[in-house]
Amino acid sequence: MARKKIIAGNWKMNMTPSEAVKLVETLKPLVVNDEVDVVFCVPAIDIIPVVEAAKGSNIQVGAENMYFEEKGAYTGEISPNMLVDAGAKYVVLGHSERREYFAETSESVNKKMLKAFEHGITPIMCCGESLTQREQGITMDWIRQQVKVGFLNVTAEQAKTAVIAYEPIWAIGTGKTATTEQAQEVCAGIRACIAEIYDDATAAAIRIQYGGSVNAKTAPDLFAQADIDGGLVGGASLKEEFGKIVNYK
Ligand code: 13P
Repeated sequence: MARKKIIAGNWKMNMTPSEAVKLVETLKPLVVNDEVDVVFCVPAIDIIPVVEAAKGSNIQVGAENMYFEEKGAYTGEISPNMLVDAGAKYVVLGHSERREYFAETSESVNKKMLKAFEHGITPIMCCGESLTQREQGITMDWIRQQVKVGFLNVTAEQAKTAVIAYEPIWAIGTGKTATTEQAQEVCAGIRACIAEIYDDATAAAIRIQYGGSVNAKTAPDLFAQADIDGGLVGGASLKEEFGKIVNYK
């Protein structure tokens, strides 16, 4: 069975709740496309108003992070139950900005992955190399490690429903999109890694996105690649351009 494309916006630390509602109203008619899963990953405080504003549309809502404990003395954190109750269906885990600025590790990402599955939230697990790592020729070694640690103790049945976002750090917010060849090569490598950990059926089912300066111009070629099942879009997800990206064909 062909994999359904999944195109997600990652709003990062943008949009107050009232701005968020306005953006959803603007984008709602533009992101209609039955062939694609459309997800808006938004700041925690925007989840409830965005879920409300997106009612009756094809927009699904996700969070940008989550803690791996159920509840308790973890000031400032958001639990899986809070996300579920608020209506979030997805959660971005291990974004490079969280790894870089908030000391997120593949081990903590793994704990969050397991919790997300336990609560029926679909993780969008991010991985990606720095420019130095690419120049050193260790891109695939690095990403294989991120994937292997991130998926530790995740079952094949769970992995089949997961989303992996390949986001080369040097392409994020730089306007420098990876070439389609570079993106396809790594996404194919990630799929091969999943086949090694699990089996061919799991590798064939899991969805792998590309992220990093995706725009309306670069999306069609990227999303046409055999192992690229959509995108995780930052800057362009906050504009009407996101409608063009969702309707990339
Ligand atoms: P940009 O699309 O702004 O480069 O951001 C990519 C990203 O980090 C999505 O998670």
